[in-house]
Amino acid sequence: MASERPRTEKLGRDLSIHTQRRKWQSRADTWDRHNDVGMSKVASMAVEAAKVRPGADCVDLGCGGGRLALALAREGANVLGVDVSESMIRRMEAQAAEEGLHSVRGMVAPIEHLELPAASLDLVVTNYALHHLLDGEKEKVVRAAAQWLRPGGRLVVADLMLGRGAAARDREIIASKVRVMARKGLPGYWRIAKNAFRFLLRIHERPITPEAWVALFEAAGFTEVESVPVVAEAAIVSGVKPLGG
Ligand SMILES: C[S@@+](CC[C@H](N)C(=O)[O-])C[C@H]1O[C@@H](n2cnc3c(N)ncnc32)[C@H](O)[C@@H]1O
Repeated sequence: MASERPRTEKLGRDLSIHTQRRKWQSRADTWDRHNDVGMSKVASMAVEAAKVRPGADCVDLGCGGGRLALALAREGANVLGVDVSESMIRRMEAQAAEEGLHSVRGMVAPIEHLELPAASLDLVVTNYALHHLLDGEKEKVVRAAAQWLRPGGRLVVADLMLGRGAAARDREIIASKVRVMARKGLPGYWRIAKNAFRFLLRIHERPITPEAWVALFEAAGFTEVESVPVVAEAAIVSGVKPLGG
């Protein structure tokens, strides 16, 4: 019985990685065109929150086509972009080559399996990716980031951050999304049904609240933990690995 839990956890994690890989392999060509104002705002605020210096060593988790990784490289950082989708990584590499950005590398790997040397990074950043992970994996990634960072290094998580309706903020966000979709008529109602199913069963999308992220950061020993709301459903949580850590 004692061995059942790790086995079930592994199965859940493998299934989640498999579904994310399938989903994002097929969306690589269209994702970067999905440039709504809110998302662009979150990405540019995440780059600001990263406070990156030229020569800094960074990893972008779930980098996709490189929205953040490329922006950081343009500021002179060395960036490893990690993504479960090979086509996303190829897109990022092609764009880096086109711009002559030689400090960007791609790695096709699930975040859940990522192993990096201890104290080898100045920044761990991620944009709209960690809400795809199971909750236990989110916690492990925050702890792992604390290991990968050098003292004084920074973790920045920009993401969809909301709960499943327990708080008034969640209910307001959900209601406003439903109103926007409903205005689109029949296709909108279909999206409402599909998204409600996924959201309630936590299939693909598994966001947690900004408060839950802050708690994960603090439990992993980060200091100067800050949560900044950006648009209704998205926020940025950042923290610093203490100098003595
Ligand atoms: C919503 S897109 C965001 C991409 C990029 N960060 C951006 O800002 O445009 C989510 C990305 O996370 C990646 N992803 C999802 N689950 C992952 C996992 N378990 N490991 C690595 N990457 C993952 C997907 O392949 C996809 O590229």
